[in-house]
Amino acid sequence: NQSIEIIDTDNEKMFPITYKDLEAMVEEKLPKGNYEYIRGGAGSEQTMRNNRIAFESYSLVPQLLKDTSQVNTSISLFNRTHPTPFIFAPVGMNLLEHPDGELAVAKAASNLNMPYSLSTLSSYSLEEVAQVAPNSTKFFQVYWSVNEELSLSMISRAEDAGYKAIILTIDTTTMGWREGDLKQNFSPISQGYAKGNYINDPIFQMNLTNGTYENYIDGILKNLHHPHLTWAHVEKLKKYTNLPVLLKGILHPNDALKALESGIDGFIVSNHGGRQLDGVIGSLDALPDIVKHVNGKVPVLFDSGIYSGVDAFKALALGADAVCIGRPYVYGLVIAGEQGVERVMTNIYNELVTTMKLAGVRSIDELRKIELVKRKSHI
Ligand code: FNR
Repeated sequence: NQSIEIIDTDNEKMFPITYKDLEAMVEEKLPKGNYEYIRGGAGSEQTMRNNRIAFESYSLVPQLLKDTSQVNTSISLFNRTHPTPFIFAPVGMNLLEHPDGELAVAKAASNLNMPYSLSTLSSYSLEEVAQVAPNSTKFFQVYWSVNEELSLSMISRAEDAGYKAIILTIDTTTMGWREGDLKQNFSPISQGYAKGNYINDPIFQMNLTNGTYENYIDGILKNLHHPHLTWAHVEKLKKYTNLPVLLKGILHPNDALKALESGIDGFIVSNHGGRQLDGVIGSLDALPDIVKHVNGKVPVLFDSGIYSGVDAFKALALGADAVCIGRPYVYGLVIAGEQGVERVMTNIYNELVTTMKLAGVRSIDELRKIELVKRKSHI
């Protein structure tokens, strides 16, 4: 059950264990534009730094001699039991990383028994993904389109294909100010990487044939984000689907309270891995207040800045019901496809188990009740 260093058969290098080493190997393997797009964040990347500072400001105080030979990492979410508290965060355009893209990631998630979230902007369609990973728990992430019919059409398709929840991302009403991409004039959507869910959509096709869009890339770009998004759209979405609806990108407790009034079924506390608004508090620093306000009424998931099992431990200790992972699995995908994704996630999982054992914690329920110590100022 311990993580071991495995030879990467692709290039016969040791498969990296740490986040830093994963990042370094990906930098070597990918064209600069692709690499910066994945690694980078908005503006001066203060939000990204705040994510890490937040994690490093919390410390554990173990309580020992409790027999931790067996630890139970299972959680229950929307009436299903999952063996681990890990979820794959939605990450768009996986053809930027590997020819198998989302198919490889969804298969890895299925093998690991972890829920998988597919982005609106995937390179492969939601049906193709469902076909290669038919038995796993899958969620569909929605970027609410200017053309609402298009979003509703995708949601219906996700329902038909067996997806179990809708994740509405609310922090992306316009693209973040990403200096790395701007400097290099890197625009993967314009290059067609995000076509997976659009190209075969009946509503999308109807507009294409009517001559509304000159070509499909124009169509995607025109429909991408919805700057007028309000709570009214959230209520509309709730009425439209019977699937649980999660809001991704919540940071303010007032928004959490409004969401509960709108009948929302869950939250993902997130600052989009620092890719959207710069200068935002660390996602982990937003978590305790939101957990307090939500008070167990619906699940509170968490992402942004989890790079290790200890990080996952801290987020769960601060009250997250489950944790989502973004960049680390994407790096695994670049390095060794489906296998690479599995290796990265297995290492993070194994470190969580080790951390639970050494900290004297035997279950996720127990973990969610322990207290961490927060340093007042960061050194
Ligand atoms: C993302 N993220 C994202 N979120 C979303 O709702 N829809 C999307 O299409 C994408 N696309 C995307 C691409 C890339 C390359 C990255 C790195 C991230 C955000 C993602 O779901 C998650 O919030 C962050 O990745 C979490 O932070 P970490 O784990 O990367 O630090």
